[in-house]
Amino acid sequence: FFRTDIPVGLRRLPGPKALPFIGNLLGSSPYLSLTAMSKRYGDVFQIQIGMRPVVVLSGSETVRQALIKQGHEFSSRPDLYSFRMINDGKSLSFSSDHVGIWRARRKLAYSALRSFSTLEGTAPEYTCVLEEHICKEGEYLINQFNTVMKANGSFDPFRYIVVSVANVICGMCFGRRYDHNDEELLSFVNISDEFSKVAGSGYLADFIPILRFLPSTTMKKFLSINDRFNIFVQKIVSEHYATYNKDNIRDITDTLIDHCEDRKLDENSNVQMSDERIVRIVNDLFGAGFDTVSTALSWSVMYLVAYPEIQERLYQELKDKVGLDRTPCLSDKPRLPLLEAFILELFRHSSFMPFTIPHCYCNVRITSKDTSLNGYFIPKDTCVFINQWQINHDPELWKDPSSFYPDRFLTADGNDVNKIEGEKMMIFGMGKRRCIGEVIARNEVFLFLAILIQKLNFLTVPGEPLDMTPEYGLTMKHKRCHLRSPC
Ligand code: HEM
Repeated sequence: FFRTDIPVGLRRLPGPKALPFIGNLLGSSPYLSLTAMSKRYGDVFQIQIGMRPVVVLSGSETVRQALIKQGHEFSSRPDLYSFRMINDGKSLSFSSDHVGIWRARRKLAYSALRSFSTLEGTAPEYTCVLEEHICKEGEYLINQFNTVMKANGSFDPFRYIVVSVANVICGMCFGRRYDHNDEELLSFVNISDEFSKVAGSGYLADFIPILRFLPSTTMKKFLSINDRFNIFVQKIVSEHYATYNKDNIRDITDTLIDHCEDRKLDENSNVQMSDERIVRIVNDLFGAGFDTVSTALSWSVMYLVAYPEIQERLYQELKDKVGLDRTPCLSDKPRLPLLEAFILELFRHSSFMPFTIPHCYCNVRITSKDTSLNGYFIPKDTCVFINQWQINHDPELWKDPSSFYPDRFLTADGNDVNKIEGEKMMIFGMGKRRCIGEVIARNEVFLFLAILIQKLNFLTVPGEPLDMTPEYGLTMKHKRCHLRSPC
C-alpha cells in the first residue's frame, strides 16, 4: 500500500518482501510457513499471494479481537475463483453472499440442523435421532471392518469411516442411508481430499488469475467432484419435491422446502432469498457434515495406533465406566473424561483444519479506528487467513506443544476434563462464522470412537510403517493406509 493510503495514527502492516507477480511462496505446508513468519512479524502481518495482499492472523488474543470484538468487520468471505465453483456459487459457507442473506440462511441452517439432530429416536433406548444414527452406523462399521479384515487381513479405515459418517448426516438431511459399496456415494466421499486441496487457504489459481487458463489436473478433479456431488444432492431434492407433504416433514430437505412454501404465504418476509438459495443449504450441511467428521475419526484411529498405551487406557476406561455388555451412549460423556481429553488433544495436535475458511475484512464504518486491528491499517476487502494451527501449537499457550499428550486436558486428579484448557483449543473457528455443526461433530466423534474402542483394537500391519504426515488442504488428510484389528 502507498504510504499516503494509511490514515494518520495507524501503522503499516509488517510482512516479508514479496516477489513481483508471484508474491510470497508458502510451500507445501502454508500453516507451518505462516506460523514461522508470525514469530518474526507478529500476530498481524501481511503477505502477498500473486498480486493480492492477504492478512494473516495468529495468536489467540488477536484472533479473538478480530472475530469476536470486531466480529462484524471480519465476518464476510472473499470472492475467490474456486469458491464460485462450490455449490454453483450458492454455498452458505464459501460464497460472498450479502451479509443479510448469509445471516438468514445461516439461521435457517442452524435451526434445521438442531431440530433434526435432537428429535426423539424411533426406539426408546435412544435419547435422540443423532444418537440412534451413530449407534446403528457404528455397529455396521464394526461389522464392515471385521468382514474386510477376515477377507483381506487388513482394511483402509478412511474408506469405511467416511461412508458411516456420511450416512449419519444423510439420515438427518435426506432420511436415508447408503450401502458401504454404493458407487454413487463413493464417487465423491472417497476422494474428498481432491476437494480439500483446492478449497484450502492459499490455492494459487485464486490469487494468480493466469493459472486458471492453464490445464490443471487438481482443478479438473475439483470441478468433477463438485459436479458429482451436486447431481447426487439434486436428484434427492427433486424426489423430495415430488413427495413433499406439509403435514409430514421428514428431514432437513423437507424443512427447507417447507420454508420456501411458507415464505410464499408471508407477505412481510423482507429478505430477498431465492428458493434455490434456501434449498441449496442442504448441500452445505451434507458436504461439511461428512468430510470434517470422517477426517477427525480417521485421524483418531491413526493416533490410537500410534499410541497403543493410550488406546489401552481408553479401552480400560470404557470397560470400567460403561462395561462391555451395552453400547455406549451420549450420556456416558461425563463418565469418560480420558476419551474427551483424547478428542481435544487430537483436534489440537492434528489441527486437521489448520485455517478457518478465509474471511474478508469489511470496514463497515469509516473512522480510522474501524479500519484497523491492533493499530494496523487494513484496507477494505482484504482477504484474511486465520491460522488455527498456530494457536494450537503456540508455546505461550501449551507446554511442549508438539507432544501428543491427552492428559493435558484433564484436571489434576484425572477425574474430569479441564474446561478452561479445552476452550483454548481452536478448530471450529470463532465468532459470527463459527461452525454451526460443532455440537453434532463433537457428539459424533465421541460416540463413534467410544463404540469402536469398546469393540476393536487397532494395530498396524507388519511391514507397513504408519505415516502421519498430513496432506495440506481445507481439511488435512493422512495418507491412505491399511490397519488391522484382531477379530
Ligand atoms: C464452518 C470446523 C463439522 C457445518 C466451519 C469452519 C470451521 C469448521 C473451522 C469455518 C469457520 C470460519 O470460517 O471462521 C469444523 C470441524 C468439524 C465440523 C473441525 C468436525 C470435527 C461440521 C458439521 C457440520 C458443519 C458436522 C454440519 C452438519 C458447517 C457450516 C459452516 C462451517 C455450514 C459454515 C458457517 C458459515 O460460513 O457461516 N466448520 N466443522 N461443520 N461448518 Fe463446520
